[in-house]
Amino acid sequence: MKIIVTKDYNDMSRKAANIISAQIITKPNCVLGLATGSTPVGTYAQLVEWYKKGDLDFSQVSTVNLDEYRGLDHSNDQSYYYFMMNNLFKHVNIDLSRTNVPDGTNPDPVKACEEYEEIVKSYGGADLQLLGLGHNGHIGFNEPADEFPNFTHCVDLTESTIKANARFFEKIEDVPTQAYTMGIGTIMRAKRILLIASGADKAEAVKKALQGPVMPQMPASILQLHPDVTVVLDEAAASLL
Ligand code: GLP
Repeated sequence: MKIIVTKDYNDMSRKAANIISAQIITKPNCVLGLATGSTPVGTYAQLVEWYKKGDLDFSQVSTVNLDEYRGLDHSNDQSYYYFMMNNLFKHVNIDLSRTNVPDGTNPDPVKACEEYEEIVKSYGGADLQLLGLGHNGHIGFNEPADEFPNFTHCVDLTESTIKANARFFEKIEDVPTQAYTMGIGTIMRAKRILLIASGADKAEAVKKALQGPVMPQMPASILQLHPDVTVVLDEAAASLL
């Protein structure tokens, strides 16, 4: 595991964007695993800037996103599809038919998740999977649990995740209580992983994930077992390492 400590959020975003750019340049038809949340916003903004300068070409890139809220459709401004569209897809020359986000509108959770797992598999998995980190150590929406889920599945969001994500919604009651998420296995099958975290409020989760015991109660700790992980942190998030 390579750990890169940067001075602040902007520096973290630029370094992460550099790693994703290198992936696209060295393999123009790569499969990018993408994440949502506030952490990758700056990374996507940097990629868009480089695309606009003519330094990046997304025309052959495919994407698979980590997760989606159950029940939210593409037009809902809190859906992760909407997030991806507005933060990245609509600003670059990506072929939308090659972008994939779990279908939150499919009311059948088993079917929705099986279909999504098949989609990820049909691409041969992600060449590079970008990850943020939840305060409780979740990756995607894999919440602390008694086991590591292997495949895409439907999860009940924890109280702390609902509270943390409530800031994006008008009121806490609007936050969906379930989500469809890649499993820990789906994530671990990515060839390379890029984990990013920023801010002092993530420092404890970062320390436990990177230096604590590997256990499903701290989902991100599994990354210690992946052969090719790069972690880009700002100083605040790295402060307890
Ligand atoms: C959300 C997402 C995760 C994200 C995490 C951290 O619940 N499902 O993919 O990494 O929370 O979010 P943020 O980057 O806003 O702290």
